[in-house]
Amino acid sequence: MSAPVLLLNGPNLGRLGLREPDVYGSTTLAEIETACTALAGELGLDLACRQTDHEGEMIGWVHEAADLGAGVVLNPAGWTHTSVALRDACAQLTAPLVEVHLSNVHAREPFRAHSYISPVAAAVVAGMGPEGYLAALRYLAGRLTTS
Ligand code: DQA
Repeated sequence: MSAPVLLLNGPNLGRLGLREPDVYGSTTLAEIETACTALAGELGLDLACRQTDHEGEMIGWVHEAADLGAGVVLNPAGWTHTSVALRDACAQLTAPLVEVHLSNVHAREPFRAHSYISPVAAAVVAGMGPEGYLAALRYLAGRLTTS
């Protein structure tokens, strides 16, 4: 059986391609999800891709991953820097969580350097653009057991 993984993207990431292309590039979220789905197939991961601008919906998906024992690739977007509630949800995960940022948050405004999520993540990727999601999936594939 394939190991379950949720690829979760937070607020404003549905607008990739349109949104500040000088910062986030021209690749759309649909293109990222297509590439991730193809790689997940090669890696033997059972991937579901979701995006929301609503914090409660995101927290519900993290609860779902906790109940499933699923791995998570999460770009928390703006909630990275604000949300104790999302961090508390992520702390309940039992399989590894990889926090992904398209941009290098450490080379931008000072408020982006702090993440509520990083202390409960197994790994953090920042500044690799869309490739960061693929790197996260490869990392998870090496750590999730299938049964
Ligand atoms: C982001 C970085 C965050 O600071 C920002 O709020 C985002 C996107 C990134 O992918 O680089 O929305 O998570």
